[in-house]
Amino acid sequence: LSKIACAENMALKKVFIANPSVPRVAYNIFENFVEVITSSGYDRESIIKGLSGANVDALFWAGGVKLDKEILDTAGPQVKVVGTMSAGYNHIDTALLKAKGIVLGNTPRVLDDAVADVALLLAMSASRRYTEGRRHIEEGTWINFFNTQWMLGQDISGSTVGIVGLGNIGQAIAKRLKGFGVAKILYTGHREKPEGKELGAQFVNQDTLNRESDFIFLAAPLTNETNQMCNADFFSKMKKTGIIVNISRGQLIDQAALIKALKDGEIFAAGLDVMDPEPLNRDSELLKLSNVVLTPHIGSATNNTRNAMAELTAKNILRGLGGEEMFTPVKL
Ligand code: DGY
Repeated sequence: LSKIACAENMALKKVFIANPSVPRVAYNIFENFVEVITSSGYDRESIIKGLSGANVDALFWAGGVKLDKEILDTAGPQVKVVGTMSAGYNHIDTALLKAKGIVLGNTPRVLDDAVADVALLLAMSASRRYTEGRRHIEEGTWINFFNTQWMLGQDISGSTVGIVGLGNIGQAIAKRLKGFGVAKILYTGHREKPEGKELGAQFVNQDTLNRESDFIFLAAPLTNETNQMCNADFFSKMKKTGIIVNISRGQLIDQAALIKALKDGEIFAAGLDVMDPEPLNRDSELLKLSNVVLTPHIGSATNNTRNAMAELTAKNILRGLGGEEMFTPVKL
C-alpha cells in the first residue's frame, strides 16, 4: 500500500463516514485530500439524516446497516465511490452499485489473522466444553473427586478438519491448524486451489467433508449459494463427535436446525462468532445450550486490525475518487 491518489488532480471532494467510531487513522489519511462528514450515529436514521443534502462523493461504510436504494437515493447521483470497512459485503446492494457505475472496495487480507485466531479460540473452547465447564464452576457442580470420565472433550491434534471456503481467512485457519498437529485438512469451494496444495489440504465434496471432519470451519462469504447451506441435512452428515465453527456470517447456518442437532446430540458442539440475527436475541436457545460457545462478532476486533481496516478503506476511497483502481476493489 505504498501509493495513494494525488491531491493535485482532485478538487476537495466530500466523503461521508457512516459510523462515528471509525478509527482516527482514516481521518488522518483523508486530511488535506477530502472534506469529511461523519454520521452522528451508527443507525440507519442517523445515516440518512446525515446524508440528506450533504452532496457527498464517496461513502465510507462501516457496520451492518444495509447500503441499499434508499441510502443511495438519499446520498444522490454524484456518489461514485464506496469503501466498506469489512471483508464481507453482503450488506451492500452490489447490483445497484454496478448499475449506477459506483466502484466498491472492501478490506480483505488485513483481518485474516485476527479472524483466524477467533476461529481457533472457538474450536478449542467448543471442543473442550468451555461453556459447560464454566457453568459447573459457577453453579457449584464441579465435582470434588477425580472422575476420569468427567468433562472429556475432543482433540484437535490428530484430527481431520474441514474448511468450507479456502479463501484468505480459510488459509489463515489452515496454517494455524497445522501448528496444532492436525492429521488432515479437507476443504470445499468452487474449485481446487493451488494454495490448498501448498497447505497440504485436500479438495473434496461437501458430503465427504461432513462425513470425515472432526471440526468444520465455515469461512465462505454469504452468497445466495451459501445462504442456509448448513441445514438439517448438513448436520445429519456430520460426525456425532463433530464440531462446527462459524466466523463468516450467521446466515450460512439454519440456526433452528443447528439448535436441534446440538440438542439431539447429532453433533458435539458449536463455536459461533456470528449469528442470526445480530445482536442475538437474549432469549435465544443458543444461549441456553452448554455445548455452544458464542462470541459477539469480534473476529476482526483488535486495535491493529481495525486500524488497518480503516486505513485500507480510506486509501481505497481516495484511489476511487482519484479515478485509480482501488487497492482491494470488489469485482461488481
Ligand atoms: C468483516 O470484515 O466482514 C467482518 O465480519 C466484520 O464485519
